[in-house]
Amino acid sequence: GAALGPVLTAGDAVADTLGSGASPVSEPFCVPLPVPRVLSPVSTIGGVDVYRMSMRRTVREIFPGLPTEVLTYNGHFPGPVIRARSGRPVIVRQHNLLERPAAVHLHGASLSQRNDGNPMNTIAPGGTRSYVYPNRQPHASLWYHDHAHHMESEHVYRGLSGFYLLSDATECRLPLPSGDYDLPIAIRDAHFDDAGRLVYVMGDRSRTTLLANGVPYPYLEVAARRYRFRLLNSSNDRMLRLGLADGGPIVQIGSDGGLLPCPYETDSVFLSSGERADVVIDFSRYPVGTRLVLQNKAGSGAVDSLGQVLRFDVTRTADDPTEIPAVLRSLPPLPKATAERTVTLYMDEGRAAPPRGYIDGKVYDPDRVDSYVRFGASEIWTVTNVDKVIPHNFHIHLVQFRVLERNGRSPGPAESGLKDTVVLMPGDTVKLQATFDTYRGRYVYHCHMLDHSAMGMMATMKIV
Ligand code: C2O
Ligand code: CU
Repeated sequence: GAALGPVLTAGDAVADTLGSGASPVSEPFCVPLPVPRVLSPVSTIGGVDVYRMSMRRTVREIFPGLPTEVLTYNGHFPGPVIRARSGRPVIVRQHNLLERPAAVHLHGASLSQRNDGNPMNTIAPGGTRSYVYPNRQPHASLWYHDHAHHMESEHVYRGLSGFYLLSDATECRLPLPSGDYDLPIAIRDAHFDDAGRLVYVMGDRSRTTLLANGVPYPYLEVAARRYRFRLLNSSNDRMLRLGLADGGPIVQIGSDGGLLPCPYETDSVFLSSGERADVVIDFSRYPVGTRLVLQNKAGSGAVDSLGQVLRFDVTRTADDPTEIPAVLRSLPPLPKATAERTVTLYMDEGRAAPPRGYIDGKVYDPDRVDSYVRFGASEIWTVTNVDKVIPHNFHIHLVQFRVLERNGRSPGPAESGLKDTVVLMPGDTVKLQATFDTYRGRYVYHCHMLDHSAMGMMATMKIV
């Protein structure tokens, strides 16, 4: 994080970020950051909140004057937010108004096989199904997205994702920013043609426009106080390293599976596709009038050189009753491991066209079970990316796991909490521990770079 430029920035770098000129250019920082709408239940029956969503095509004006067709839940891009509470079940009735099968996966949740949104467990075009979410797990920043076999990558790319924020008493007791000062922000890349259409090509390297809550380079007016942001990398493949232009401190308080044991201060958070970071930024250190760009500092070279994400405009002072406690939570104790296994990730880009992704040497076959896990087991998985240049990440359905080791060393503070997705740069090995004591059945694990999972980098475990 050196030489990151002044606090005040004009939009001059954005021309670069739009690449070859194929994408329409919009003036940066002209449109406010949309606050994703929180969905209200259509009814509450016996303590169960029932929501209704329909998946449908919608036209949005992402660039002024240009119509962009997107796939949405309830017409929203990204989808509406569900705010749920541990111990209080939710039913989401999903109506598929698309002309293709769809499956809704609640990423990071502990769910029975029929409610998990497995690749083969799809809703036919025109069909409806109710997903039951018992919310028996502790608080976590979850998200839902499409998972239809072989189509998840394109469906998510075209818009089928949204936040599902699960809260509980442990979290609510803390004096963290809440209400209007607690905002989910989904960040993703996209490739638009000059007519404003979303271009989907597997493994596309021209996804050079970044969207925050569906809008390119928005601004957010903030008060000079603390805010909590639930950051999600909802890109198909892109890695993000998010930091403030002045290198100023960000306090990370949570990751995929809820709060970290302790907060820690950093100048940037790293997110691979599907990962979440819960952060607090204190704008009271900036005078009113400051404009502060949130940048993507990941990568180098043409592919990952996108500079800006959004701009915070400090427009007013405000009282701030919030605090960041030194201890946020205690994690569930790690049981003694009862089994170990290894997993290898590999992709043969170049040799096959289209390229194929492998887990343990095999391309995904939904009819095959790749590993059997004993119900109740607590397993250590040693996951290795054996590729020399291609990064991957790794997501397991059903569980929140702990990262025990990364390349033989204890993980950093960002990985000290509960996780459901971890990044594996080329050659990396991560040791993680997961306990399978909630549901039996078949679930997938896969690379969450969705172009890779759609190329076969997915496998099935059966808990028996
Ligand atoms: Cu977020 Cu199987 O995925
Ligand atoms: Cu991958």
